[in-house]
Amino acid sequence: MSSFDTANLSVEANVQELARSNPLKIPEKFFLKNIDEQDMPESTLANTSHDFSFDDIPIIDFSLLSSGHEEELKKLDLACKEWGFFQLVNHGVAGEVLQGMKDGSAKFFELPLEEKNKISILAAKGTREGYGQAHVATEEQTLDWSDALLLKVYPFQIRKLENWPTTPKGYKEAIEAYASEVKRIGEEIIRSLSLTMGMEKDVLLGLHQDLRATLRVNYIPPCSMPDKVLGLSAHADAGTITVLMQQDDIIGLQIRKQGHWVSVQPIPNSFVVNVGDALEMWSNGKYESIEHRAVTNKSKARMSFATFILPHVDVEIEPFDHILESTGMIQKYKKVKYGDYLIQSLKRKMEGKEHTQNAKLGNT
Ligand code: OGA
Ligand code: NI
Repeated sequence: MSSFDTANLSVEANVQELARSNPLKIPEKFFLKNIDEQDMPESTLANTSHDFSFDDIPIIDFSLLSSGHEEELKKLDLACKEWGFFQLVNHGVAGEVLQGMKDGSAKFFELPLEEKNKISILAAKGTREGYGQAHVATEEQTLDWSDALLLKVYPFQIRKLENWPTTPKGYKEAIEAYASEVKRIGEEIIRSLSLTMGMEKDVLLGLHQDLRATLRVNYIPPCSMPDKVLGLSAHADAGTITVLMQQDDIIGLQIRKQGHWVSVQPIPNSFVVNVGDALEMWSNGKYESIEHRAVTNKSKARMSFATFILPHVDVEIEPFDHILESTGMIQKYKKVKYGDYLIQSLKRKMEGKEHTQNAKLGNT
């Protein structure tokens, strides 16, 4: 790509600037094309006629979970089997830490474009880190109505502080405080998952040495045509689990459940946790990494804060033997080195469940 093309891309695709400069005009490349009627954002918002609603998404109590409470572990197992998603309450993260992340991010996205572009993804050579559009993979694809700040937060030794925002004041520290709390919580959930998968408590976490975590702050500006575009197109997350903080007052996240899109109603001060592809492969599909997306709305910008917790890149992932034996299931996923899987999944646009499909046996 020439430098002209690169410059062009960054200006044209900055969604916040588009929304600000000409709110009523949405460029063609953001319009959804060739998608089924039931996948259109508009038709899914009135999803009251289905057998379930957002009220049904399981709610897990973190403090019970971390004390080894049997019932709560069963709830976790069921949540991962039947939904691939749950809300996490009673996690003990201080309100100021959550608010600090939200306030700092709001101020960051309000900065002038040139200021944010000092840490542009396009400038950060060799690493998809910094500010910009998270999923620009090919010229033809439909673009998401969102911008993002992407940072590799763990392990410490891979942090590149030159890609971290220096303004607003205190933001770096707020990110640091938030990331360290989410890491603590993520590790504890992985310990619990090790138990629900029939292993000793630390086995699963042991496959995450130098635990890797990537933070993505999504910024979805208001959109004058919320029925024609998506803030984040349908995708599944590639890691072990994702820990997401939503804003309390704006609905945006939707998950696919039996062919329907179900909105995840924010619960103040909670996290939304979901199963990623790695966990699906280890569990031979007992736990499913399900598709999800974010819709836009006409009146308000929405931020969300996703932390992806990933296995070690050298770990060879395949379904655990004891799970195959105890369930009598045939092996559905072939062995794959996680680093290779990740590279493949980042190369392509995150199109739904394409990635785990590729890892499935029979698709070489
Ligand atoms: C993600 C994601 C959901 C949201 O960043 O991978 O799915 O609610 N975010 O913004
Ligand atoms: Ni996601």
